[in-house]
Amino acid sequence: MTDSLEAAWERTDRIFGFVADEALLVRPIPLRQPLLFYVGHLPAFAWNHLGRGVLGLPSFASDLDALFEAGIDPPDDAEPPRQDDATLWPPLDRVLAFRDRVRLELCAVLGDPALAEVLSMVLEHELMHQETLMYMLQQLPAAAKRPPPSSRLRRRDQRWPRCASVCVSPPAPRIWAQAPADSAGTTSGPSSTCLRRRSRSTRCR
Ligand SMILES: [Fe+2]
Repeated sequence: MTDSLEAAWERTDRIFGFVADEALLVRPIPLRQPLLFYVGHLPAFAWNHLGRGVLGLPSFASDLDALFEAGIDPPDDAEPPRQDDATLWPPLDRVLAFRDRVRLELCAVLGDPALAEVLSMVLEHELMHQETLMYMLQQLPAAAKRPPPSSRLRRRDQRWPRCASVCVSPPAPRIWAQAPADSAGTTSGPSSTCLRRRSRSTRCR
């Protein structure tokens, strides 16, 4: 189950890797939240249920726990915005740092038997949202998307993707190591992932 969740995180990052930064506040389906919400919602759901919920761990960003649990409803359901005001949402870097901290905290405890039942729910939630995100991406104009990772165009984009910490366990217990920074020198970004083996860290691309 732990492997499945880590694989799901990696797939989630690949999906968000198709969205240009400037499109993250777009609501491709108007009555859904903007895409940035889902960047934070998936880790918040996992953290609120597994870390805070089952294990009773202390919150490290209570405002984000709450924001990404429910999102921000439009003031008028009849005319929802197509793009949210940036002042309503935390900056992308903070959301990504939240995501990475959640993964770091959870990687240390995912083997706890007490999490087993809720872990399957969290995995199902992640997979369900991946399907919904694909519907949303279908509604985005081409200009709001990034080329696939295999594209030469993607390789020329120095901002994307960026690697964050990876979860390393050769063989046990797990330890944390820092994935290679990209050419811009940053080590955080939507393609970060929690991986089990050092050799796989190079897959963060
Ligand atoms: Fe959800």
